[in-house]
Amino acid sequence: MCGIAGYIGKKQAAPIILDGLAKLEYRGYDSAGIAVFDGEKIHMEKAVGRLRVLDELTRHGASMPGFCGIGHTRWATHGCPSDTNAHPHMNRENTIAVVHNGIIENYDVLKARLEKKGYQFVSETDTEVLAHMLTEYYRGNPAEAIEKVMHRVEGSYALGIMFLDHPHHIYAARKDSPLIVGVSDTGKFIASDVPAILQYTRTVYYMENEEIVCLSNEHTRFYNIDGEPIEKEPVTVDWDIHAAEKGGYEHFMLKEIHEQPKAIRDTISPRIKENDIDLGELNLTDEEIKRLRKISIVACGSAYHTGVTGKYVIEDLARIPVETDLASEYRYRNPIYAPDSLVIIVSQSGETADSLAALRDAKAHGSKVLSIVNVVGSSIARESDAVLYTWAGPEISVATTKAYSCQLAVFYMLAMKFARIRGSITAEHFQTLLEALRRLPDQVEGLLSQKEKIQYFANHYLATEHIFFMGRGIDYAISLEGSLKLKEISYIHSEAYAAGELKHGTISLMEKGTLVVALATQDALYPKTVSNIVEVKTRGAFVMALTTLRHKDMEKCADYVLYIPETESPFMGSLAIIPLQLFAYYVALGRGLDVDKPRNLAKSVTVE
Ligand code: F6R
Repeated sequence: MCGIAGYIGKKQAAPIILDGLAKLEYRGYDSAGIAVFDGEKIHMEKAVGRLRVLDELTRHGASMPGFCGIGHTRWATHGCPSDTNAHPHMNRENTIAVVHNGIIENYDVLKARLEKKGYQFVSETDTEVLAHMLTEYYRGNPAEAIEKVMHRVEGSYALGIMFLDHPHHIYAARKDSPLIVGVSDTGKFIASDVPAILQYTRTVYYMENEEIVCLSNEHTRFYNIDGEPIEKEPVTVDWDIHAAEKGGYEHFMLKEIHEQPKAIRDTISPRIKENDIDLGELNLTDEEIKRLRKISIVACGSAYHTGVTGKYVIEDLARIPVETDLASEYRYRNPIYAPDSLVIIVSQSGETADSLAALRDAKAHGSKVLSIVNVVGSSIARESDAVLYTWAGPEISVATTKAYSCQLAVFYMLAMKFARIRGSITAEHFQTLLEALRRLPDQVEGLLSQKEKIQYFANHYLATEHIFFMGRGIDYAISLEGSLKLKEISYIHSEAYAAGELKHGTISLMEKGTLVVALATQDALYPKTVSNIVEVKTRGAFVMALTTLRHKDMEKCADYVLYIPETESPFMGSLAIIPLQLFAYYVALGRGLDVDKPRNLAKSVTVE
């Protein structure tokens, strides 16, 4: 959500900043802007719409010469998307330029105070108060003015700031919104995320809350909010640069769907050792695992959906009670933190505001927090007691696919490990599951090779207005994700139901031709789901069913059947989701939509 890129060095800043912003497009935005020190003044350009508008306006930065600048892609919160509301924001004298990710929660109070003092606001944004406050506190020392502002604002921010008085410096600061600093031989960078700078450097500093950095050609200086210098160690990022490129695929989403076998393999293989699962990162002793009385899984969106599967799998195998919550609900519902319980936060980005707030609440109540995170060094990873990383690599498409699949794989390993330590499954059962887990990446690969069949089916449903997904148990959890995937990128209204729940209301929506996608991969629940399929068919629905090859009889009751290979029932979701991801992709493609950057959505939701 919003992206920041900044550069100071030996090269022209604007093209580097524009390229960096392009790499952050996946975060979601509706306008963009850039400010560059041109040797005399701070030259600023802003444009509503896609980055290409700004790119054309500035002739890919050629019209903005200079070696030091900051840029921003804005996802509107305060004030509609417009040139005026786009960042950077400047003070009236055009001597201070600010870009900001996050929300200044007390901006109305601050704005009223500034207006009384005669400051005039031109935008509707919360960010503009920062430009005026910096002016108010600036006495020649930028870091001091930034500290004063930080002490007075409430909310979240990642900031990039330039002062005309200090033309060869970039300042940056953060609180609860991600920001990194990159250093190379030819320049220094600030960015919201690693892909923005990966082509220039792998040496990165992760900024912590309430830290300030001052970058110049000569130095990289970090301070805390009280102006005290701090020492930070750089980290070498080992992401493959090509992982952040499309690599011949039409969309990042399709590429990432195809990367799933590798991503799952990378996530499970290092943890399978000598016919056992090694989760050394867990930071829990066997005794603590045996004592566990409750697990709370907390996340948002698709990550929440993996938590719904996680509940089924952990309860089934490890026999530990699990509750799965939406982070936005959990953080405000005064949850009960019992002794011997574990909170698991799931997040691809590791920066989701609600998930981070839930984590902090849990920690403040003395709960142990384990996180399942994809981005190394992200806020959630850093603040957790233990982290199980998903090794999906950078995920660029807004609609998650490979990170989702890796999160599922981590839940399988957790459930198996807990089950083994607690003795709720036999050694033989554990080995059977382990073999099935090892086979999963190849099975996903096999499913991907059948994508034409799904494309063919998807092409018949491009004009559909409503699609229902249903299933029982894990099939229900996967239905939730299949439905979300479809609606977020195709804009078709879709809902997911526990199949047995339909007749308690929603079945009234079934009429001739309504498309129902029915998942029936769980042998134990198969006859029940078939009954539910018959119920909707009786009301005229057209049913596309997803089941395993042993259930050929499905062809007698569903209108169209897709088969997935057999695996152990707890792992079925990893196979069932593949056709649903492809279905969503091909429907969106057929409708001519922007698959990777669906409207109104942001990849990293860093505000509430
Ligand atoms: C949907 C999607 C979102 C995210 C959600 C949580 O495709 O990607 O629903 O799953 O915003 O994001 P993270 O996992 O970064 O916490």
